[in-house]
Amino acid sequence: MNYQQQYQQSLQNPQAFWQQQAQALAWYKKPKTMLSKDANGIDRWFADGELNTCYLALDYHIEQGRGDQHAIIYDSAASGAIEYYSYQRLRDEVAQFAGALKALAVSKGDRVLIYLPMIPQAVIGMLACARLGAIHSVVFGGFAAQEVAARIDDAQPDIILTASYGIEFDNIIAYKPIIDKAIKLAQHSVKHCVVFQREQKQVKQTAEFIEGRDHNWKQLQANSEPADCVSVNACDPLYILYTSGTTGKPKGVVRDNGGHAVALHYSMKAIYDINPGEVFWAASDVGWVVGHSYIVYGPLLAGCTSVLYEGKPVRTPDAGAFWRVCEQHKVKTIFSAPTAFRAIKKEDAEGELFKQYDLSHLKSAFLAGERTDPPTYHWLQALLKKPVVDHWWQTETGWAIAANMMGIEALPCKAGSASLPVTGFDIQVLDSNGKSLPANQAGEIVVKLPLPPGSFPTLWNNFEGYQQNYMADYPGYYLTGDGGYIDDDGYVFVMGRTDDVINVAGHRFSTGEMEEIIASHQSVAECAVIGIQDELRGHIPLGLIILKDGISSNAIDKVPEQIIALAREKIGAVAYLRHVLIVKRLPKTRSGKILRKVLRKIADGENFQTPSTIDDPASLDEIKALFIANAIGTTVNS
Ligand code: COA
Ligand code: AMP
Repeated sequence: MNYQQQYQQSLQNPQAFWQQQAQALAWYKKPKTMLSKDANGIDRWFADGELNTCYLALDYHIEQGRGDQHAIIYDSAASGAIEYYSYQRLRDEVAQFAGALKALAVSKGDRVLIYLPMIPQAVIGMLACARLGAIHSVVFGGFAAQEVAARIDDAQPDIILTASYGIEFDNIIAYKPIIDKAIKLAQHSVKHCVVFQREQKQVKQTAEFIEGRDHNWKQLQANSEPADCVSVNACDPLYILYTSGTTGKPKGVVRDNGGHAVALHYSMKAIYDINPGEVFWAASDVGWVVGHSYIVYGPLLAGCTSVLYEGKPVRTPDAGAFWRVCEQHKVKTIFSAPTAFRAIKKEDAEGELFKQYDLSHLKSAFLAGERTDPPTYHWLQALLKKPVVDHWWQTETGWAIAANMMGIEALPCKAGSASLPVTGFDIQVLDSNGKSLPANQAGEIVVKLPLPPGSFPTLWNNFEGYQQNYMADYPGYYLTGDGGYIDDDGYVFVMGRTDDVINVAGHRFSTGEMEEIIASHQSVAECAVIGIQDELRGHIPLGLIILKDGISSNAIDKVPEQIIALAREKIGAVAYLRHVLIVKRLPKTRSGKILRKVLRKIADGENFQTPSTIDDPASLDEIKALFIANAIGTTVNS
């Protein structure tokens, strides 16, 4: 069957379509019901099925004779280490660590927060939770203590897994003190903290370990009995992953076990054209959804080898790093963010480093996290001379919504487009009244319900937020928060967010949260944060502040740098708030709404129409002059 036939079948008879995909998995109890409604009235997949995701990812493959095959290749460009984990070794370590968690009283349904760098223990920790039916919540290592504390309070874990430190280029980032601070800031009390002591720089156990609370990972693991897989219901949560929304409070996206396993297993072949035994590399971070789905679960569910890369596209040691990994580990498919390739392009535009490597095993490159800008698409395509596939993703869906499904039918790619809807996703474009828009007309991108397996059924502790944020605006449709259009050939063009979310170097942040932090500064009367274009990171935030009256000129000069430091301290350096400008006033509508969209257009040097509702059109000229004076616009580069 070609793509169109499969796609149509998935929409016309979703139950039959997904039943067929579900049959590929070794369930403990095969589901009889494919699609049903839960108590909240939400569509759920495989509600009477039972399984264990860790079993499917590890033990099952050993039973099938893949015990000696590499499950994970840990390649640390940051530290120089390369370590191979066969399925057997990974299963044994996971089972043993699950035993350690069990000894700390972790059981089905308990939450475990994971704050780890890109080391094998991150994978071991996640799978050990899955083995016990516990719910992991991985927090990206670049987040500051306050962000971790907010997640502790929402997920209420009894246990945190962390490491002594992470490595960012030449910087050693001490993780344990961040966790200590987060535990102090949180209201919820954490009972245990398991610390993986990396070689070289260890947290001194006597001085920095809190007796009774903190445990040494290696000792704990070595002294425990292996734990077996626990059978869970398909709808039981596997993990919570927090993501940014329009408010300061992060949203805990819940992923269930059954739909997730079916969708990811299916996607490995259907989207990425990867077969068991082949090498897949998602150059992302386990702290993001791409890392969850395609460093850990997808490749392992499909019996592939996954590369766990602790390094950067550049300066570890150079812009040939990605190509070195592809050659050395015979990577068939690479998946990363456009920003990573822009970073490589910046340092090796002519591909001199690229030419030094044998990439004969590489068959395609997939990009996501932000729209792939056509110049980067063309550059990468010319370099690789292999399919470059931009595909569209969200934490909420857990896998691609639009893609070129290379394992079904390799169709032509179009620069600037995330290609075609993925099977199961009925993508439509609506106007603000909910009317379906014809081809080539931009509007809100929505997905008609039911969402396919793998998509989130709720937000942790916040079903009301789930309804309001995603389901209320257009009844019967999931609101993606992205805007764009579908062309005459059915290709989806995702042009940007329609809300306050921005993507900085493929990382999602809320400008609303940044505004809350800026507004907490004692000298700030009012502020706005907008995402402006950046050559490397796609977008970066720009803060505009109005100061309170009566502040001395000496103090005024210091405010922007204090705000930059505050954002770093409260969110993390990775949010990249580096530009803060003092303004006399902000352009507003007569009813007092800040004209953020117009501000963005001015900053990006785009044409705009002065809104008829504007309070004073002269405010736009002031802003324009300020941006020019501060080189904000296409010239803003980090
Ligand atoms: N832990 C702690 N700090 C982190 C971090 C982590 N995991 N990741 C980033 N940071 C810090 C960096 O050290 C830096 O801090 P500094 O201001 O003290 O130097 C800051 O956050 C900004 O980081 P970043 O935006 O990543 O800039 P960079 O110069 O370090 O690297 C790129 C630039 C483009 C190489 C890098 O952003 C990159 O590889 N991006 C790809 C992103 C990606 O794969 N996203 C996944 C989506 S699929
Ligand atoms: P996250 O949940 O962090 O994965 O971020 C999801 C958001 O990233 C989406 O809602 C989009 O705004 C953006 N995004 C991801 N992939 C793409 C893509 N291929 N094209 C356009 N935008 C994308």
